[in-house]
Amino acid sequence: MASQGSKRNEIEKLDREYTLGTWTRQRDFDPTQVVDTDGPRLVTADGSSILDFSSQYVCTSLGYDAERVSDAVADQVRTVPYVTPAWSTEPRARLSEMLAEITPGSLKKTFYSTSGTEANEVAIKMARAYTGKHRILSRYRSYHGATAASLSASGDPRRVAQGPDVQPQVPGMVKGPDPYAYGSSLDPDQSLEYIDEMLKLEGDTVAAVLVEPLVGSNGVLTPPDDYLPRLREIAHDHGALLICDEVMTGFGRTGEWFASGLYDTVPDIITMAKGITGSYQPLAATTVTEEVAEFFEDNLLNQGHTFAGHPTACAAGVAAIETYREENLLENAREMGEYLKSELESLAERHPSVGERRGVGLHQGLELTRSETERVPFERREDKVSSRRTVLDEVSAHTLDQGVYFYTSVNTIVVTPPLTITRDHVDEALGVLDEALERSDAAMDG
Ligand SMILES: Cc1ncc(COP(=O)(O)O)c(C=O)c1O
Repeated sequence: MASQGSKRNEIEKLDREYTLGTWTRQRDFDPTQVVDTDGPRLVTADGSSILDFSSQYVCTSLGYDAERVSDAVADQVRTVPYVTPAWSTEPRARLSEMLAEITPGSLKKTFYSTSGTEANEVAIKMARAYTGKHRILSRYRSYHGATAASLSASGDPRRVAQGPDVQPQVPGMVKGPDPYAYGSSLDPDQSLEYIDEMLKLEGDTVAAVLVEPLVGSNGVLTPPDDYLPRLREIAHDHGALLICDEVMTGFGRTGEWFASGLYDTVPDIITMAKGITGSYQPLAATTVTEEVAEFFEDNLLNQGHTFAGHPTACAAGVAAIETYREENLLENAREMGEYLKSELESLAERHPSVGERRGVGLHQGLELTRSETERVPFERREDKVSSRRTVLDEVSAHTLDQGVYFYTSVNTIVVTPPLTITRDHVDEALGVLDEALERSDAAMDG
């Protein structure tokens, strides 16, 4: 499908010449031009139609036919395209009210920004101000964003790649273990005890425990049901807030509005982006409990962005939530999630290179292994920032050639289609993946 290297078209050449690519050595930057979209599919300049089982890094949860959202954006652009955050607009007020409705428990007030990164930066700043403490405890297998504090809080290989001499870490970031049972030395219970111990040993100087309730790009790690409520209790016992980063898991991906709702847990702060508008507009949000919000009645909230609460982005947010509701997309995520899960389980049974299936709803992943008896990854953590072509790259290149896109990350094939998919889409995508996994089976040891 894609035009690459010497086969680049004029636009791809132009783009390559004048644009710097993200998270890559520029030599490896080779973007394919997308000219159209159709439901859950992308159409590229060479006429290929690609079924997108990544939702573009878990962004386009509504697929590409959400007319209500496109219309809301167009209408807003024609009436009030922009005012600074000091002014009020109907879409911002309505969206804030809707977020209070769909977030769990007493979460009520929202601070807006434009990326998941910023949403987490604000959450960290608020937790520090609220508790008067500075340390943030996050986990090794996590990604919270690209700028100084959010990247320092991430355990992702991209933090390590930055190097301490190029970008020193923001002080006060400590890392705990993950709820990752497969091939790991600590089981999820022990990892919780370890975090409890860490909070004790840090002498109650921790402002917040920051976690993705279901880890996304660091391996789709799925905790046991009692993990998140116990983590909240442990954090609170040590006077720390619980911040749930729901940038990937928010907005119905797991079949609940937020993954914290899956585990009946009310975090003190939830951060979100991506699905909030189905990515029809860039928008992110940090929603806090009434108690945290109350603190800032008399204390300075020392943060702001020119585009905070941008009217067209908020209009997209309102229309997106209406679309999730009217099209019963959470229910579809639950139903299709069950079907997808059982089909992935049967792939795992057929292919010895699939070590473990993990995930909930339409947030699924397959971790591959070289060995039939234990976890021996094909892709090392550092490969996320290397140019080495791994077996997982070959598997996803094969599916792409056959018209289905999956993204891979840290030895895991991530399976996160739009919430609008049908059983036919699942059958089509997994039929192609089934064939592609023969490559990883063939690459196994012995
Ligand atoms: C869990 C999580 N948090 C934060 C971010 C950062 O969001 P953004 O890329 O919008 O800055 C991401 C991005 O993928 C993410 O997956």
